[in-house]
Amino acid sequence: MKKKINISLLPGDGIGKEISKEAYKVINWISKNSDLDFNINEELVGGSSIDKLGAPLTEKTLEKIKKSDAIILGAVGGPKWENLSFEKRPERGLLKIRKELDLFANFRPALVFESLINSSSLKPEIIKDLDILIIRELTSGIYFGEPRGVENIDEKNQRGFNTLSYTTQEIERIAKVAFETAMNRSKKLCSIDKANVLESTELWRRVVIETSKKYPEVELSHMYVDNASMQLVRNPKQFDVIVTTNMFGDILSDCASMLTGSLGMLPSASIGISEEGNKKAMYEPVHGSAPDIAGKGIANPLAMILSVSMMLQYSFNDKTLSDLINKAVNSVLEKGFRTKDISNEGEKVISTSEMGDKVLEELDS
Ligand code: IPM
Ligand code: MG
Repeated sequence: MKKKINISLLPGDGIGKEISKEAYKVINWISKNSDLDFNINEELVGGSSIDKLGAPLTEKTLEKIKKSDAIILGAVGGPKWENLSFEKRPERGLLKIRKELDLFANFRPALVFESLINSSSLKPEIIKDLDILIIRELTSGIYFGEPRGVENIDEKNQRGFNTLSYTTQEIERIAKVAFETAMNRSKKLCSIDKANVLESTELWRRVVIETSKKYPEVELSHMYVDNASMQLVRNPKQFDVIVTTNMFGDILSDCASMLTGSLGMLPSASIGISEEGNKKAMYEPVHGSAPDIAGKGIANPLAMILSVSMMLQYSFNDKTLSDLINKAVNSVLEKGFRTKDISNEGEKVISTSEMGDKVLEELDS
């Protein structure tokens, strides 16, 4: 008997729509060739949802995706919606999913594919075999802290303000996830904060240290975020697992992704674990909706396809299938197939859907 699985696919905006089609193909391939039987429900989020339903994420959509076994999201946002008021912008849809499903642990791997080593702006020896994992806290910190807003001081002046806040419990649960993850990798964890200036991250450091007592095998280090951003570029291989706050993780993960030379290659997983141990999860590429190239059929679908692979591993504990997809992607690259973003001069460039087809061909073989 095949295991029935319901997933919500939210293509979103821009290239999100194009790369989602390639995710579809891969998921259907898995349904045909494994014990897993996927039923895909497509839903609207971001600008597409604003245009059709009047809000970046409706309550109805939220209820539906809450019931699914996993969520796959393309990307949200674009110039068309940039002038909307804050609460109506496409990004709010994404933030609402994270918050409402309590997806507090965000996994962002930065992995260098040997065949793309020359796409990086860094010297090959600095990034060869790079394999780091940033774990970003995703549902608290300055992104969600209250009070927040813009208020009038007098006729000429306004004051904009946000609050960076973390509770012991919020830090503890992300720290636990980070230590558990480190235990399954090289047992090295670096926690990144700004404990010399910000009280909330001084608490962060104390709670991480307290949590570390349960994981004596893990070698824990701490770094201030300014130094960490420099070290990431200077010598990224000193890191294995990194754990950090919502905003620092946002910034550092963009930086880490560019070490690999190919933002279009990196997947991510956002996971929530309830006290009863139930898992909720959303998978999405790290890159955005890339409005400048949307609709041209040239976007790189590999980050999206690798997000499907992460889903198989994290939501359905199927490391074999997940590895199969990773290997297929690797072989396609080894054979020299490139979308525009990862191509060097003289290399043959293929389209979004051709790239998806190449991955399927590899899976078939
Ligand atoms: C990310 C993005 C989002 C974030 C935006 C689109 C709201 O930059 O996932 O890193 O800031 O978290
Ligand atoms: Mg970001």
